[in-house]
Amino acid sequence: MRTQVGIVGAGPAGLVLAHRLRRAGIDCVVLEDRAREYVEQRVRAGVLEQGTVDTLIDLGVGERLQREGLVHHGLELRFGGAGHRIPLSELTGGRAITLYGQQKVVEDLIAGWLAAGGDLRFEVDDVRVDPERARVEFTHDGARHTLDCDIIAGCDGFHGVCRPSIPNGVLRAYERVYPFAWLGILAEVAPSSEELVYCHSERGFALHSMRSPEISRLYLQVAPDEDIERWPDERIWKELRTRFATRDGWTLNDGPVIEKGITPMRSFVVEPMQHERLYLAGDAAHIVPATGAKGLNLAVADVGVLAAALERQYRDGDATGLETYSQTCLRRVWRVQHFSWWMTSMLHRLSGDDPFEPRLQHAQLEYVCRSRAAATSLAENYVGLEHV
Ligand code: APR
Ligand code: PHB
Repeated sequence: MRTQVGIVGAGPAGLVLAHRLRRAGIDCVVLEDRAREYVEQRVRAGVLEQGTVDTLIDLGVGERLQREGLVHHGLELRFGGAGHRIPLSELTGGRAITLYGQQKVVEDLIAGWLAAGGDLRFEVDDVRVDPERARVEFTHDGARHTLDCDIIAGCDGFHGVCRPSIPNGVLRAYERVYPFAWLGILAEVAPSSEELVYCHSERGFALHSMRSPEISRLYLQVAPDEDIERWPDERIWKELRTRFATRDGWTLNDGPVIEKGITPMRSFVVEPMQHERLYLAGDAAHIVPATGAKGLNLAVADVGVLAAALERQYRDGDATGLETYSQTCLRRVWRVQHFSWWMTSMLHRLSGDDPFEPRLQHAQLEYVCRSRAAATSLAENYVGLEHV
């Protein structure tokens, strides 16, 4: 088999890239090791930056997103028993975020891709990637295949095969593992607040988010090795109620929990994001802690750079975009890493007994809520920087 771009992984990165390439008349094949049902049901974050929304609409897969996505113009920071609104849109010239589950984004991208006759193979096995020859070998429906490409896009997430196929010594990894994780639930209950609530409390961080007027998404900071079995639903609601409590008696609606899981918190980047003819994008190249809600948005930004570079290569024979791919992406990656680390450090209960830390966090939170300059800095990063 032959194609121009072999895409490994059908997450947001791989699928957005496929759509962009198709529109530019560039041929590609997408290989995914999981089943379609699995990737469409995997619950992940759900905050889309304006730029991500614009990209999805532009690709013709934004119809349901525009109908069902919840557009938010602000968020709440809660600490010391009181809430403080950050008016995101007012501070950023009208930009907003949209709440829409990542699995719906993936569902829409897959449906659009298959409807347009795109080549996407689920449940491929034993994928081998050769960065030098731009060759992917894989098993599908019991037969072994070889896919020869001009380039390979490694969009196979943090645990994929593309990054490890790069020889030792080429990549440098930068990593920080945080001493906490998030326990997340989806609950069948109307959101208790119209906007997201990022809550810093003595007992740890909590986040109130949502997926629809009927479904709430909530998170609790827990120990990194926490056993989910120790968290029956009643305990989760009780802990959420304690952390979110305000002096003026805010109430948290509860309801049946329909999904729960624990997500580790880490920051990770490899440099460069390219080796020979293999280009890494999204979680395959970097992970951000979920506090800034940036993972999906960063993945979409990477493949935007890659698609533009490939268009330039095929249309004009100009390789500049491909040559500078890693450098271009890494500028945004590190900006977003800093923002995600900053939000994480400001909002979580840090380990150890150092009484200095909570005082610093409190001072920073107050500053962000009182200073228009500080609030604008949070807001412009949160809604997504147009230029980095
Ligand atoms: N072969 C083919 N596909 C693979 C392989 C493999 N060996 N290994 C993993 N995959 C698939 C995964 O099953 C998944 O569907 O690659 C896809 C990677 O998708 P994501 O993990 O969603 O990563 P990405 O597309 O970069 O999107 C980033 O995902 O982790 C979240 O919250 C994060 O929002 C962020 C987004
Ligand atoms: C979510 O809705 O899943 C969500 C929202 C904001 C975050 C992280 C996750 O920072």
